[in-house]
Amino acid sequence: MAHDLIPEEKRALIEQHLIEQYVIWDQQLNDPENTASLYDRITTSESLMQAINNVISRARYTEDTLEEAFRQGVKQYIILGAGMDTFAFRRPEMLEELEVFEVDHPATQEFKLNRLTELGWEHPAKLHFIPIDFIKENLVTVLTRSSSYDPKIKSFFSWFGVTPYLPQKDVFATLRFIADIAPAGSTLVFDYIDTDAFIPEKMSPQMRVLLEYLSKIGEPMKSRGFNPSNLAEDLASLGFHLYEDLSPTDIEERYLQGRTYGHYEHGHFACVVVD
Ligand SMILES: C[S@@+](CC[C@H](N)C(=O)[O-])C[C@H]1O[C@@H](n2cnc3c(N)ncnc32)[C@H](O)[C@@H]1O
Repeated sequence: MAHDLIPEEKRALIEQHLIEQYVIWDQQLNDPENTASLYDRITTSESLMQAINNVISRARYTEDTLEEAFRQGVKQYIILGAGMDTFAFRRPEMLEELEVFEVDHPATQEFKLNRLTELGWEHPAKLHFIPIDFIKENLVTVLTRSSSYDPKIKSFFSWFGVTPYLPQKDVFATLRFIADIAPAGSTLVFDYIDTDAFIPEKMSPQMRVLLEYLSKIGEPMKSRGFNPSNLAEDLASLGFHLYEDLSPTDIEERYLQGRTYGHYEHGHFACVVVD
């Protein structure tokens, strides 16, 4: 489904870009004139593999946690920053009982909706698309505008691959909106980068490569991350109880055993419950 969702010409661009990157890395790795250490040269390709592992493991974590919440009776799933998520099309049996809300930036959502029309995929009755710009709009207002969203019932929210790209104030504001709109006992899973990733002396070499790369392509990380030692306290002030905070090592143990590359040293997955 992911393969089909990306139009052929865009897929060709992605493939071409990856091949070019690999050729550059390969040349850097094998160039006898290259003065960078072998360690630094390997770091660049490690950074890409870690990014891929991050995407795979966050999708697995989200859906494992959602299934548990679903078994406990959750009837609404809100995917914040859904991107090209295919859950609603992959799990028709869950959508018999679960209302799913894809909440995303209008530009991304328009692209996806056009592509879904082109593909002719059947639109599940319980799937709803809600546009939002987290920087400009209030999630409570936007969700309550939808007649399908019921603020009285326990819900499950996911927010992956988004917080690093938003300014800190907008991350906090959106967390507050979730705590405001969702009844006690609702769950949110999200990922975050720890504060060390933004301190030059503390960041891992792979993170340095990633931050430089994202700035170069015009999608810089704007958040300054969360400090795992203060996470429970920070979230308590926003109206959540921290249920679990998976460190990169925890993520590797749970999802990436036997892989050559691991997870970002600074990338965490958190699960929190509304008070
Ligand atoms: C890297 S993708 C993550 C997609 C998916 N959740 C995942 O885990 O792979 C980032 C998503 O965040 C959304 N996004 C970025 N900035 C946003 C904003 N200011 N308001 C709403 N959505 C935003 C993008 O539209 C995109 O769908």
